[in-house]
Amino acid sequence: MARWYDALVGAKGSEYQQELVLPGVLRLLDLKKGERLLDLACGQGAFCRMAACLGVEVTGLDASRDLIEAARKHPGPRIRYLVGDARSPDVLKGEAFDAIACILAIQNIEPIGPVFANCARLLRPGGRLALAMTHPAFRIPRQSGWDWDEGRKLLYRRVDSYLTPARIPITTHPGKTSGPVTWTFHRPLQEYVRAMAKAGLAVTALEEWASHKESQPGPRAKAEDRARLEIPLFLAIVSRKLDKAP
Ligand SMILES: C[S@@+](CC[C@H](N)C(=O)[O-])C[C@H]1O[C@@H](n2cnc3c(N)ncnc32)[C@H](O)[C@@H]1O
Repeated sequence: MARWYDALVGAKGSEYQQELVLPGVLRLLDLKKGERLLDLACGQGAFCRMAACLGVEVTGLDASRDLIEAARKHPGPRIRYLVGDARSPDVLKGEAFDAIACILAIQNIEPIGPVFANCARLLRPGGRLALAMTHPAFRIPRQSGWDWDEGRKLLYRRVDSYLTPARIPITTHPGKTSGPVTWTFHRPLQEYVRAMAKAGLAVTALEEWASHKESQPGPRAKAEDRARLEIPLFLAIVSRKLDKAP
C-alpha cells in the first residue's frame, strides 16, 4: 500500500496536491521562519519538504513505517520523521508546536476525537491547525458522482446521502474486486466542527477549492468547465487552540 501511494503521489505530491492543496495549506498556515510545524499523517512527506524550505522546523508523523521510510529517502532539507498514531494519547508527549497540518488524511482516521484532542494538547495557545480533505459534501465515495441533464445541457453533481457517516473501502487498483484496500470514513461537515470545538479548537477559516483543470474542446467542454468551477473538490478548515478549554 505504501509503495503504491509513494509511486502515485511522487516526491512533490500528486497534481492536485501540487496545484491546489499544498500551496493552499501553506498560505492558510502562514508559517514563519523558525516556527515548529507538525505534519500529522504526513505520508511520504511532500508537505514537510515544502514547509522546511521556508526555514520552518518540521516534524512529520505517520502511522505507516513504510511511508516514513519513503519520506526519509526523498531528498530535501532536514526534517524529523517519526512513526506514530495520531490518535494515541502518548504521541509526541511533552512537545509543543506553533502549527499543525493534517492533509488528505483525517478521512482515513477513525475516531477523530482523539486526533483533535492531541492537536489541542500539542499546539501552543493560539496555535493553528489546518485540515485539508476531499470535500465531504460533494465527494462521498459511492454516494456521489457527476450526471448529465440532457434537457438543461448541464453537468451536475449528484449526492445520494450526506448526513449518515460511512466506512468505505477504497481499492488501490480501481476496477479490481480483490487486492489491498484502504478505508475512508465519510462524515458530514458538522462532525468535524463539533469534534474540534469539543477539543478546544475554534474554527477561524474555511475554504473550498475547485479544480484548476480545463476540459479539452468537445461538445460538453463548456458544461464541464462550469461544473468544475461550481463544485469544489477540496475543503480546508483552519482552527486555533483556545486559551482555555471549553
Ligand atoms: C491519503 S494519505 C495522505 C498523506 C499525506 N498527508 C499527503 O498529503 O500525501 C493518508 C495518510 O494517513 C496516514 N494515517 C492513517 N491513519 C493514521 C493514524 N491513525 N495516525 C497517523 N497516520 C495515519 C496513512 O498512513 C497515510 O499516510
